[in-house]
Amino acid sequence: MRFDIITLFPAIFDGYLTQGLLSKAIQRDLVEIHRHNLRDWAPPTPHRPVDDKPFGGGPGMLIQVEPTVRCVEAVEASLPGESNRVVLTPQGKRFDQPMAEDFANRDRLLLLCGRYEGFDQRVMDILQPQEVSIGDFVLNGGEVAAMVIIDAVIRLVPGVLGDEQSNIDDSFSRGNRLLEFPQYTRPREFRGHTVPDVLLGGDHAAIARWRAEQSRRRTLQRRRDLLGDPQNLEIDNLEIDLNQTKRNHPKSE
Ligand code: ADE
Repeated sequence: MRFDIITLFPAIFDGYLTQGLLSKAIQRDLVEIHRHNLRDWAPPTPHRPVDDKPFGGGPGMLIQVEPTVRCVEAVEASLPGESNRVVLTPQGKRFDQPMAEDFANRDRLLLLCGRYEGFDQRVMDILQPQEVSIGDFVLNGGEVAAMVIIDAVIRLVPGVLGDEQSNIDDSFSRGNRLLEFPQYTRPREFRGHTVPDVLLGGDHAAIARWRAEQSRRRTLQRRRDLLGDPQNLEIDNLEIDLNQTKRNHPKSE
């Protein structure tokens, strides 16, 4: 899978590209990341401006339509196939796991990172990108949001994760739209905190049942919105069960 990132700050990605799973995926030719400096498409004056004040007044500066459109067209002209344009903006559709799965099915993604007060509206009107937000907060630019998207998407590219099962077990993933169950490793006891017995017993069916139960319990307590229809009988049972747990172990959770 190939990502093209259009940014005024390509060096922000330096550390990220050379570490962990992403750098391994790049070395193994599973993922390609190409950075394009928007300033290279600025007018050839000494300061190479790419931003200007908004018409009608208001604070800050906007990224101009001309260098942006020229840059996108130049990048796309050098590549075959569909590029799937994405603008990172707090005005966009909220990024989530189904969107990451959709992106992972594409061969290419073109990520446009805004800065200042964002892009001139005509960037959206002309390029018709998908506008994507990583959450209801305002970042200083789209670069961190682009890294978030790349990070979530490459995990889903076949071969990138060593153990293909782990992205099925992950919270929100295709096999599991709930939060992940708690996990433990050695030691078995630390400062009086022990590992649940069921995980040590080797009964795989019991472990699977315990994990499914923990997953639903956590989701109910922390992210009820993920469970959908509250009329769901299974969830009602779980709630009754939870109340009993609270009575029996008032200090737990
Ligand atoms: N740029 C600034 N804030 C953003 C956000 N929340 N998501 C995506 N891009 C952004």
